[in-house]
Amino acid sequence: MTTYDVGGVRLPRPFQIRRVSHIGLNTVDAPAMLKCYRDHLGLRSTDSSENLANRLDPDGEHLTAEGAREMHFLRYGADHHQFVLMHRQLWSLIDPEHASVTINQLSWQVGNLAEVAGAVDYLGGEKQRILRSGRDMPGSNWHTYVLDPNGYTDELTFGMEQVGWDALSKPRTYWDSLRHRTFPDLPIPSEFAEVEGRPAGELGTGFRPQAEEEGYAVDGVLLARPFKVVGLGPFSIVVDDLDESLGFYRDLFGFQVRSRATHDGVDFAMLSCNSGHHALALYAPEVRERVGLPAGTSVFGVGFQVANHRQLLDAVAYLTDCGYAEVDVPAELVPGFSHVTHLRDPDGNLMQLYFHQRQLPPGADDGVPPSMVGPASSWPQTIDAPVDVFGGEIFMGPWG
Ligand SMILES: [Fe+2]
Repeated sequence: MTTYDVGGVRLPRPFQIRRVSHIGLNTVDAPAMLKCYRDHLGLRSTDSSENLANRLDPDGEHLTAEGAREMHFLRYGADHHQFVLMHRQLWSLIDPEHASVTINQLSWQVGNLAEVAGAVDYLGGEKQRILRSGRDMPGSNWHTYVLDPNGYTDELTFGMEQVGWDALSKPRTYWDSLRHRTFPDLPIPSEFAEVEGRPAGELGTGFRPQAEEEGYAVDGVLLARPFKVVGLGPFSIVVDDLDESLGFYRDLFGFQVRSRATHDGVDFAMLSCNSGHHALALYAPEVRERVGLPAGTSVFGVGFQVANHRQLLDAVAYLTDCGYAEVDVPAELVPGFSHVTHLRDPDGNLMQLYFHQRQLPPGADDGVPPSMVGPASSWPQTIDAPVDVFGGEIFMGPWG
């Protein structure tokens, strides 16, 4: 078997996916989806951009729906964007061949820039359909985009622009000079070096979101909601052919299959890339009807981790008060959590809320206790700590 020397470690491919980076959804109701994910779930705006719309539809003939011209970049942590919203009208101009796809990107973080470059060569050699490789603004991330068997766009990236204590993104005046339409020869200058020589007065001119009224005491910090999103993923998607998709995500991208099962006529597979039970779940199309997803949607749900069990209870109560319905999802379809529940967003996708995902080595046999599903109001106020309760990726920043 061919192996690759990746920083002194022999791997079966020249990159390794370490974590989920971000996801983008194509929406039919941009104002309602923005309200849901920004104002109610509490993701923070980092940037919005009309660049693509202005390039693809300069006369404004096609992008007629409310909010169709703006892409919204949102985050819960320091990564510039972890959740991207794009109107389906805009998406249909970008990728007319896959206009019905409701995901604009599934983005995975690899270890370093050399791994992204290695992936460009490797995937090209594997005859995968690479859409483009380079660096986008806003967000500053180097990447390669490749189509999966369903026509979903996957991105391999490394090193997103970090947004810090001042909540400012990079100035717009940087965008043109930092954008790359092709992948460069390595090495490139560091991000620190990129800023050197820029006018000092320009540094603080990036986007900063509006302050919010902070009326909730949340584990010692005043916040605008009674909970804090501290983690993203798993991404749960609907695929036409499970075996074909496993060929892509397992064999090409290197995810390990945690489990594969059938429940109530729905075939599904859970895939891991680190110690979390799964980062990616693939469901056969029958799942749409079982949990009431919109016809043809690409998305089963997007996982959002909150900081602890109490916050999970409070988050569900808060979001149901905001008008999002809790959805009955069989526990057998969503293994890998202690407690997990699902709320329907305005487009019909599921927001998958949890605080604890089971931890075990990648690829280790499944065999975890069943997930406890909602309604969350039936759960106890306190639970005994699972042995791996605060394992996995840790949220690094202060809240708010
Ligand atoms: Fe991306």
